[in-house]
Amino acid sequence: MVPEKFTLAVLVSGRGSNLQAIIDSIKKNNLPAEVAVVISNVRDAYALERARKHGIENVFLDPESYPDRNSYEQALAERLQSKSVNLICLAGFMRILGKHFIETFTGRIINIHPSLLPAFPGLNAQKQALDRGAKFSGCTAHYVDEEVDGGPIILQAVVPVHDDDDEASLSARILAQEHIIYPAAIRLIIEGKLTLSGRKVLHGNSRRNSA
Ligand code: GRF
Repeated sequence: MVPEKFTLAVLVSGRGSNLQAIIDSIKKNNLPAEVAVVISNVRDAYALERARKHGIENVFLDPESYPDRNSYEQALAERLQSKSVNLICLAGFMRILGKHFIETFTGRIINIHPSLLPAFPGLNAQKQALDRGAKFSGCTAHYVDEEVDGGPIILQAVVPVHDDDDEASLSARILAQEHIIYPAAIRLIIEGKLTLSGRKVLHGNSRRNSA
């Protein structure tokens, strides 16, 4: 059953096109959710502007106002708890979250990454794929655990890598798929269709699961 009001927090650092895809899905009634707050660790992130345009609470939480990572993450956690957020969506959030924060929100943090994980975790995933001569790449929506880009995989989409691709062209091809699978992954969570089994995410509607 879909809960009456499923609230999301979206954590961002930059342009926010994935945030926009989430907002658009909600507006088109494809995602039964509400973005309760958008939080950025970068003051002039365009994602904040996108939130503003849609009347969504937007917060710049300045890392420099806190003495260390733990106190920053404590402040972040308090913000999220005060909004009673059901799911935290990292969308281009360029900070690695610590163990305590992740444990506080176990199973309630997801991320979108521009490669077919476990290939090419970390920064510049599209360049990594090009440099290795991968013939296919893509994107991954996954739960966040302590391993960077290593949590259980929810959804992936594959794109071809062309001989004449550069980072910009491959990134654009991948990004178009990110905008499809990230809202889709959120929807699966809201609808309660996913079960975690060790490192695997089982999709409730698969034939084997229902056998
Ligand atoms: C995306 O490529 C996402 O996969 C990665 O950071 C980028 C964020 O883009 N984690 P945007 O800010 O959502 O446009």
